[in-house]
Amino acid sequence: MTGQRNLDLGEALAEAERRFVGAHPMSSQRHDAAKRVMPGGNTRTVIYYPPFPVTITRGEGCFVWDLDGNRYADFVCEYSAGLYGHSEPAIVEAIKEALGNGIVLGAPNRYEAELARLMVERFPALELVRFTNSGTEANLMAISVARVFTGREKIMVMKGGYHGGVFMFSGNGSPLNAPFPFVLTDYNDVEGTRALIREHAKSLACVILEPMLGGGGCIPASIDFLQMLREETRNTGILLIFDEVMTSRLSPTGLHGAVGVIPDLMTLGKYLGGGLSFGAFGGAARIMDRFDPARPDALAHAGTFNNNVLTMSAGVAGLSKVLTAERSMELNARGDRLRTRMNAAIEKRGLACCVTGRGSMLNVHFLRGPVQRPPEATARSKDWLKLLQLEMLARGYYMTFRGMLVLSLPMTDGETNGFASAFEGFLDDYAALLK
Ligand SMILES: Cc1ncc(COP(=O)(O)O)c(C=O)c1O
Repeated sequence: MTGQRNLDLGEALAEAERRFVGAHPMSSQRHDAAKRVMPGGNTRTVIYYPPFPVTITRGEGCFVWDLDGNRYADFVCEYSAGLYGHSEPAIVEAIKEALGNGIVLGAPNRYEAELARLMVERFPALELVRFTNSGTEANLMAISVARVFTGREKIMVMKGGYHGGVFMFSGNGSPLNAPFPFVLTDYNDVEGTRALIREHAKSLACVILEPMLGGGGCIPASIDFLQMLREETRNTGILLIFDEVMTSRLSPTGLHGAVGVIPDLMTLGKYLGGGLSFGAFGGAARIMDRFDPARPDALAHAGTFNNNVLTMSAGVAGLSKVLTAERSMELNARGDRLRTRMNAAIEKRGLACCVTGRGSMLNVHFLRGPVQRPPEATARSKDWLKLLQLEMLARGYYMTFRGMLVLSLPMTDGETNGFASAFEGFLDDYAALLK
């Protein structure tokens, strides 16, 4: 890049897109072919971005390669599920071993109770746990058991929150959302939310939130907000559910362990399956006991692949052999350093931009902080995020279209310092436009 060439954001974006299209002819062709058999060539909305997404064909360590032969340091990190990177030997070995012993056993196997034990030991809120195939399914189960357990109907959620494909609360929410009676509140609004909980106390089954919004922009909840939720829900018999599908990676004991606020139930997913399809829900034994199949009043919980041997074995290997408390802390400290450096670069240049997050999950926002809740997505902010993504791809860094950055264990200072330098170059190139 030559620095401050464009005066207009639209022109800058059009030029970056032209360069992107020129550098990815094979991805473009693959996308065109995919469009003939899948709507928009896509089977997972979040991995689409215009004009077409790069096709990734290979990953190793913290790097990925696209169909056109470009190599990127991977800061998408499979939206946090790629914590172990692409080729962690302990996980590869575990999957091979499981494969060698047959993959559809149709019974309890050697792995699931071991993975459950490792998770129960790790996360303070987890006394008993059950597995699912996705985080979405885990949230569906947690919310549903909260309704049965309390005998109440309503679910309190955060505006801008995300808990899976049928729990999307940005903008006006999704017409595909599960048909529960939701009560929406503002993230980090202590008094407003307290009042709303009290107003709906008799009909609320649960309050569900991420202790840091992940997809909502890596916005941490204040301790005051979490403590108020704990106090008000306890006083009114409402279940507090933390969705830690993403945030459990932020400390050795999950984010709830780090902040010392213990929910009644929690949901998990992503990296805990070692990179394979995974979800889990669990928490207090007094609630989870209802799933004991030996009870006459047992709640049934189905799922053909809940204990599939590939996920279970990969999950066990990850927690028992790779993700020690030390490595978890190192990874999150690396993320904190990256965020601090990026914010310092922004501040030094006096730009309307900030980086939020905690530990190994970060999000760039094109506005001046602090950011307390998901900002409204304007045409301008979307254009800036798009430009950032295209410019970082051009510089060899794979990142999301929404400004989210996630770190993985194989990353070294080389990748994070390299990313920070590339980001500083981006800021210099567009400083005149960003003031
Ligand atoms: C906080 C949160 N909850 C739930 C989910 C859904 O998980 P899955 O994609 O495995 O269904 C996600 C996925 O991004 C998530 O970020």
